Amino acid sequence: MILFKRPDDLIDFIQKKRKSIIKIGFVPTMGALHQGHISLIEKSKSENDITICSIFINPTQFNNPNDFKKYPVTIEADIEQLELNGCDILFMPSVHDIYPENFQKSNFELGYLDNILEGKHRAGHFQGVCMVVKRLLEIVKCDILYLGQKDYQQCMVIKKMASDLNIPVEIKISPTIREENGLAMSSRNKRLNEAEKGVALVIFEVLSFLKDNIFELSIPALLQTGENKLTSKGFKVDYIEITDEILNPIKNAEKNQTIVALIAASIGDVRLIDNMMLNHANNAE
Ligand code: PAJ
Repeated sequence: MILFKRPDDLIDFIQKKRKSIIKIGFVPTMGALHQGHISLIEKSKSENDITICSIFINPTQFNNPNDFKKYPVTIEADIEQLELNGCDILFMPSVHDIYPENFQKSNFELGYLDNILEGKHRAGHFQGVCMVVKRLLEIVKCDILYLGQKDYQQCMVIKKMASDLNIPVEIKISPTIREENGLAMSSRNKRLNEAEKGVALVIFEVLSFLKDNIFELSIPALLQTGENKLTSKGFKVDYIEITDEILNPIKNAEKNQTIVALIAASIGDVRLIDNMMLNHANNAE
């Protein structure tokens, strides 16, 4: 694996490679890698000639300075995992590389996506995500960008940004990778102690309960029961929602409709998010 720190060096390298028409897959991350990230690397490897992973803890997407300060950093283990899994290139820029003095901040028009769910609870978060992903795509210029469904709203936001700005990239979304007990893998899980990990699992249990009962109980009853389960285990719930495919809350569940459930909740000062498809429009699951 080749490690690049300076954007110009990576840009040069990619330009040279492009002379012999190759396909490039890109997996942007904030490090503290786990099997969820690695599944994206594997997918990219199977579909491209070169796979690039970036590790950059992007300060502009953290609305909570404490969350930024406490974000886990495990660079050595990350490099080892990437090498073990055959990643070709690791890009690890500094904050100054990504946001140089002359960096022009732009405002991304994200419509309702910026004001609901994560957008509502983490003001400015998606502006920061768009800022960094746009900048990374300018440097990496990949053919395919790989994202995880774990961050469902983020996938929608990045798709909108790329399409609005005519960025020539295909975006592929991969399923959420979970621990054996169902807990969605997340870098933030590293901040949970064993007891808290047991509690964190309840998010998956609630999502599974919603899935099992989506056509049995009314949506308000499902949401109330789900919220009660979470709060009774000590969670502070930011939201629990049942929506259509594009994140509009629904009042009734229809069999011919894609239905998604999304939860954000904190244990202590660790905030977790997760989601699950409750129904597919074509019942194809
Ligand atoms: P990070 O949280 O490190 O996640 C990097 C990528 O891995 C994202 O596309 C995320 O959805 C995916 N991912 C995380 N956990 C996953 C899991 N359990 N299963 C499958 N995929 C998973 O998301 C970010 O970083 C940042 O916002 C970023 C896009 C890099 C911009 O800074």
